[in-house]
Amino acid sequence: NQGVFTYDPGFMSTAACESKITFIDGDKGILMHRGYPIEQLAEKSDYLETCYALLYGELPTAEQKAEFTGLVKNHTMVHEQMKSFLNGFRRDAHPMAVMCGMVGALSAFYHDSLDNNNPQHREISAIRLIAKMPTMAAMCYKYSAGQPIMYPRNDLSYAENFLHMMFNTPCEEKKINPILAKAMDRIFILHADHEQNASTSTVRLTGSTGANPFACIAAGIAALWGPAHGGANEAVLTMLDEIGDVSNIEKFIAKAKDKNDPFKLMGFGHRVYKNFDPRAKVMKQTCDEVLSELGINDPKLELAMKLEEIARNDPYFKERNLYPNVDFYSGIILKAIGIPTSMFTVIFALARTAGWIAQWKEMYAEGYKIGRPRQIYTGYTQRDYLPLDQRK
Ligand code: SDX
Repeated sequence: NQGVFTYDPGFMSTAACESKITFIDGDKGILMHRGYPIEQLAEKSDYLETCYALLYGELPTAEQKAEFTGLVKNHTMVHEQMKSFLNGFRRDAHPMAVMCGMVGALSAFYHDSLDNNNPQHREISAIRLIAKMPTMAAMCYKYSAGQPIMYPRNDLSYAENFLHMMFNTPCEEKKINPILAKAMDRIFILHADHEQNASTSTVRLTGSTGANPFACIAAGIAALWGPAHGGANEAVLTMLDEIGDVSNIEKFIAKAKDKNDPFKLMGFGHRVYKNFDPRAKVMKQTCDEVLSELGINDPKLELAMKLEEIARNDPYFKERNLYPNVDFYSGIILKAIGIPTSMFTVIFALARTAGWIAQWKEMYAEGYKIGRPRQIYTGYTQRDYLPLDQRK
């Protein structure tokens, strides 16, 4: 209309990458890591074993698992100066802002002696990141709570260690409740990887420029923060608080359907799944297990289940194949474990680090070119410069 032209869409190269790590069938609600169904990994595996499979392609033998676990344990501490880095943030800073900063800062502590093109260096970067994320996540929480930072312990499992660093203090180191540790570990597994989602694509695109792995993961954390992506788990709890009571559900369903209202039903819908998100099913089972084993009767779970029932029977949601996704129930479990809402997306980033760094490693191993998405130009055709006194 104003001389605007657009490229023929056929001009656009479809930028899809190849990967052997995760398979998703959105229509059938299938998710597999290295061919292992997520349901089986969630029930039978543990997070470090799943990390191993994501990184190396196979579940570890007993010897490999012991060696990998030992390597991770030996890298759980962060440079002592990272503590002073925390002090640059306000106490009330969102933990995701702090995590973005801290993980990016790891580049300054651990990368100057590492070469991305050296497979052994890529290996140690991956292990350092998987090992240090729980320590830094807990540091963010302790700093915001005004409590002393707790150091990692080598006698605890990965999930126990995280809960120890989150909730213990120098005055009292309580034994970690095995139910909570198991639920935490399962939540880590369910968030470990998910094909080429927005944050993983960000990590790959950043990595394709040759940026160091710590900077790439910091970029992934920034992308994950958005409420349309990883920030949804925090947004679900906020939404349930706003709904407050079953009697208000219809009003919020109507808002979600109103095209003039930006409100979306948090924890519902997915770019790929047009069926149940298999992780949501496992998350819901875990929710039931954890709450009943802890003897917690959380009205938010009842409210969430009623919301799911009403939404899934609503024509708008049915026609659009909108189902609960991984974020819909995760917040209720995290709340039961005692994790503050502001830390929910940090937990997501902690767990997803395994997938992010496995895909970064795969990109290097398989050979890559710098990512360069193209566009369909819809702006003006060429026109001449207009002197200032002629502009209206
Ligand atoms: C994650 O990609 C990944 O794999 C991500 C993730 C991972 O593990 O990395 O799975 C993690 O990010 C899960 C998603 C978390 N986000 C949310 O729960 C936020 C709420 N969900 C929506 O914002 C939305 O569902 C998206 C962003 C997730 C997907 O949005 P799309 O791509 O627009 O979904 P769509 O194309 O399937 O939408 C079809 C229709 C549209 O309406 P119409 O134009 O057809 O009229 O459904 C509508 C959408 O507006 N719709 C919703 C809705 N989700 C989609 N309407 C109301 N509430 C919703 N939640």
